[in-house]
Amino acid sequence: MPRPFYVTTPIYYVNDVPHIGHAYTTVAADVLARWRRLHGDDVVFLTGTDEHGLKVQRAAEERGITPAEHAEQTSRRFRDAWAGLDITNTDFIRTTEERHHRAVQEFLQAVHDAGDIELDTYEGLYCVACEGYYTPDELVDGNCPIHGRPVEQVVEENYFFRLSRYEQRLLDHYEAHPEAVQPETRRNEVLGFIKGGLKDFSMSRTSISWGIPLPWDPSHVAYVWFDALFNYCTAVGYGSDPVRFDRYWPADYHLIGKDILRFHAVYWPAMLMSAGLEPPRCVFAHGFLLVGGEKMSKTRLNQIAPADLVETVGVDGFRYHFMADQRFGPDGDFSYEAMVARYNSDLANNFGNLANRVLTMSAGYVGGVTPADRADGPLVAAAAAAYEAQAAALDRLDFASGFAAVWELIRATNAYIEDRRPWETNKAGDTATTAAVLGDCLEALRIVALLASPVIPRAAAELWRRLGWPGTPEEQRLPEAAGWGAVNGSGNRLEKGAPLFPRLDAP
Ligand code: MSP
Repeated sequence: MPRPFYVTTPIYYVNDVPHIGHAYTTVAADVLARWRRLHGDDVVFLTGTDEHGLKVQRAAEERGITPAEHAEQTSRRFRDAWAGLDITNTDFIRTTEERHHRAVQEFLQAVHDAGDIELDTYEGLYCVACEGYYTPDELVDGNCPIHGRPVEQVVEENYFFRLSRYEQRLLDHYEAHPEAVQPETRRNEVLGFIKGGLKDFSMSRTSISWGIPLPWDPSHVAYVWFDALFNYCTAVGYGSDPVRFDRYWPADYHLIGKDILRFHAVYWPAMLMSAGLEPPRCVFAHGFLLVGGEKMSKTRLNQIAPADLVETVGVDGFRYHFMADQRFGPDGDFSYEAMVARYNSDLANNFGNLANRVLTMSAGYVGGVTPADRADGPLVAAAAAAYEAQAAALDRLDFASGFAAVWELIRATNAYIEDRRPWETNKAGDTATTAAVLGDCLEALRIVALLASPVIPRAAAELWRRLGWPGTPEEQRLPEAAGWGAVNGSGNRLEKGAPLFPRLDAP
C-alpha cells in the first residue's frame, strides 16, 4: 500500500488576482508533490480559493457585482494560472462549496460542544487586509504592521473561541514535535507568541452575511479564518468520508508565507485540538518575494503575473527560477535580470547544451543508438551523490540545494566529456572507448532527466523521449530508477532535436 502524503498551499483570497508571490508557494508545493509521487507515495495536493470575509465582500461591492459572482470569476483565474504552470494539484477547493459548508458546520458544532465557544462583546482593532485582530501595541504608527494601512475600530457582540485554554497544550505539542513549525526562526517566533499569553479571539460576525452561518445561531457567520483554515480538513473528507480522512489527516505539510504563520501555528492547532483532531505535522513558512525591495501589493502596483514571465522563460524556466534561485525560507528579491541570467547559465548552457552535445556526438559516433557497453567511470559515483544530496535537501524543503545537486551531475558529465574527449578517440578509430564514454553520458542524462523532472517537467519529459526511453519520467520509481544502469538502454534510438532551452538575450 503506497504511503499517503498530504501537502497544501494556502487558499488564496479572491480579492486579488494571481501573482508570482502566490505562484511561489504553489510551485514549491507542486515540486514536493511530484518528488513524493516519484517515490511512489499516494499524494494529495490541495490548493484553492478563500472566498468569504469582509475583504472579498468589499472587493465585490467596488465592482458592483455580488460576492458570489466576483468569487466565481477570480477563482477561475487562479485555476487557470495553476494549469498554466503545470501544477499537479489533485483537488481545488473553494470555500463557497457545499462540501465545505457542511464540513465547517459540523466542525463548528464540535468546537461548540467542547465548551470552547462563548458569547461576549468584542471591542478592538481589525485589519481588513489581514482579516485579523490587533492590540494597540502591535500597531506600527497606528497602522497594521503587515499592510501599513489603518485598522478599523470594531464593536460587536461575537462568539469567542477560548484560545487561552490552549496555551499549555500548544507548548507541550511544540515541545514534543520540534519539527512541527519550520524553519527554526519561525518556530521561535511561534513559541514566543504563545508564551506571551494567548487571548480568546472573536470567531463570528453579525455585521456581514457573506460567510458560513453558525449552526447554533445563524444570525452570525463564522469569522473568515475559522472557515478558511478548515478547508484542509474538508478536502480530505472530514464529516463525509471518515476512512479517507483518517488516511490523509494530519497533513504532512502546510506550506505558507510568513504573514499567516500565527493563524496556522497558533489558532489552527488549537482549533483542531478543541474538536479532538490532530494538528498538522508541519507548518513551513517561507519568506516574501519582494519586488524592488517591497512586498507586492495591489496598491503599490508592483504585482507581476506569472504569465508575463512565462512568456519569456517558459513554464520550466519560471518554475526553475523560483525553486533554484530563491531560497525557501528567507525573503528574496525578484529580479528579471537574475532570472534571465540563471536561465541562460543553468538551463540553456548546462542542461540544454549537455543534452545537445551528447546527442550530437552519439549521432556522429555511434549511429544515434545507445551503445551496449559503458565505461562505468567517475559518473557512477557522481550520479549516486547527486540523488543522495538532492533527497536530503528536499526532505528539508531546501529546493535550491536539492536542484543544485542535480546540476552538479550535469557539471560532472561535462567535465567527463572534456576529460575523455570522445571526438579524439573517435578520430583515432577507438570505437570501443568512444562508445563506452558516450554510454556513460547517456546514462547520466537519463538520471538528470529523472531528478530534474519535478522542477522542469516539460524539458525532462522531452529529454527522456529523445533518449529513447518509453513512458515518462513521472512513471519511474525512485530511488531504484536513479540507480546507475537501473534499466538497459542498449539499442535505444536517440533523437537530437532542437535546443531544449533556446538562449535568451540579456535584458
Ligand atoms: N486567504 C488567506 C490564506 C488562508 S489559508 C487557510 C491568505 N490569502 S492571500 O492570498 O492573501 O495570501 C496567501 C499566501 O500567498 C501567503 O501566505 C503567501 O504564501 C503567498 N504570498 C502572497 N504574497 C506573497 C509574496 N509577495 N511573496 C511570497 N508569498 C506571498 O492569506
